Amino acid sequence: MNIAILGAGGVAAALAWALEPLSPTVVSRSAVHRIQLSGPVVPQPVVRTVRWHPWDAPASPRWDLLLVAVKCPALPAVGEWMERHAPEVPALLWMNGMGQEAALARFRHGPLFPVVATLAVRELERGADRRHFQLNSLGASFLPQSAAPWVKPLAETAERTAAWPWVMLADAKLVERRWIKLIQNSVINPLTALTGLLNGAVTDHPLFSLASPLVGEAEAVARAEGVPLPAGMLSEVKALARATAHNASSMLQDVWRRHPTEIDSINGFIVRCGLRHRIACPTQRVVWRLVRQWEASWGFEAGNQSGVEPERERT
Ligand SMILES: NC(=O)c1ccc[n+]([C@@H]2O[C@H](COP(=O)([O-])OP(=O)(O)OC[C@H]3O[C@@H](n4cnc5c(N)ncnc54)[C@H](OP(=O)(O)O)[C@@H]3O)[C@@H](O)[C@H]2O)c1
Repeated sequence: MNIAILGAGGVAAALAWALEPLSPTVVSRSAVHRIQLSGPVVPQPVVRTVRWHPWDAPASPRWDLLLVAVKCPALPAVGEWMERHAPEVPALLWMNGMGQEAALARFRHGPLFPVVATLAVRELERGADRRHFQLNSLGASFLPQSAAPWVKPLAETAERTAAWPWVMLADAKLVERRWIKLIQNSVINPLTALTGLLNGAVTDHPLFSLASPLVGEAEAVARAEGVPLPAGMLSEVKALARATAHNASSMLQDVWRRHPTEIDSINGFIVRCGLRHRIACPTQRVVWRLVRQWEASWGFEAGNQSGVEPERERT
């Protein structure tokens, strides 16, 4: 099976390591020939040579499966790549947030399968063709049962190589998982990004008083979408922040690096979904807008894939 991992960041590195026996190829903008992983999950730091293929190469090998491991603002670039190099190939979307399928709809692509990933990995440094990552945890990945024919050999390999559990869920259960993760991200990501605090410290900051309305608004939208959620989501979010106390959320890391964030696919997605159901989400909208303004202040036309300007929306 010829597997392409699109992206060369934290999730791509974890996939390249865990799936090494299947010889996946990393497809990325800059050359990556060696990946180093250290941190609590890998007691002995590992250095691995990886196969690399340039993102902008005019031709591609014939791929059997794509593992998309970029941040959401890169989806248009992913869509163009898929249309050009693998328009019928199934793709697993290893991404936070929601709305990826809609963002890719205008491109020719194969079947898309969202994955809910709960690992924690971040880039420490990069050299000319080498990247070093800190792997803090390898929590379970949840994948749709409908992707089983492609995913089974990968799941077995990830378990064997890295003791990384990949769990297949019925599609409806996966939707529920995605919403739970979305709600967690809609609180922890923007509030850590806006305060500059690690996950553990943010719960003691006055801005964390927004957590309750953020969760309440997102729950109302999920209910309108027909998604059942467990009770006690707010306590779950607090517990998750404390359990990952020493982690910097991915949005905070994007702020540190002045990279476009995934705010449009997290809080922006909830607001847009709320609009369709005539549910006002004022707190979700405020944090969406604040992070967007921040991105604009460091020179991005914000990573907005929605085509909806927050200030032009009406509820
Ligand atoms: N990291 C985690 O612990 C974690 C956990 C759960 C879920 N996730 C989710 O997984 C996804 C990937 O996260 P990550 O942490 O791996 O991200 P990351 O470390 O920021 O890596 C993103 C990759 O995307 C590439 N990229 C960005 N813009 C691009 C473009 N226009 N064209 C081509 N490539 C582009 C980057 O390229 P360069 O290498 O050239 O910069 C980089 O290799 C995100 O949705 C994230 O929320 C992450």
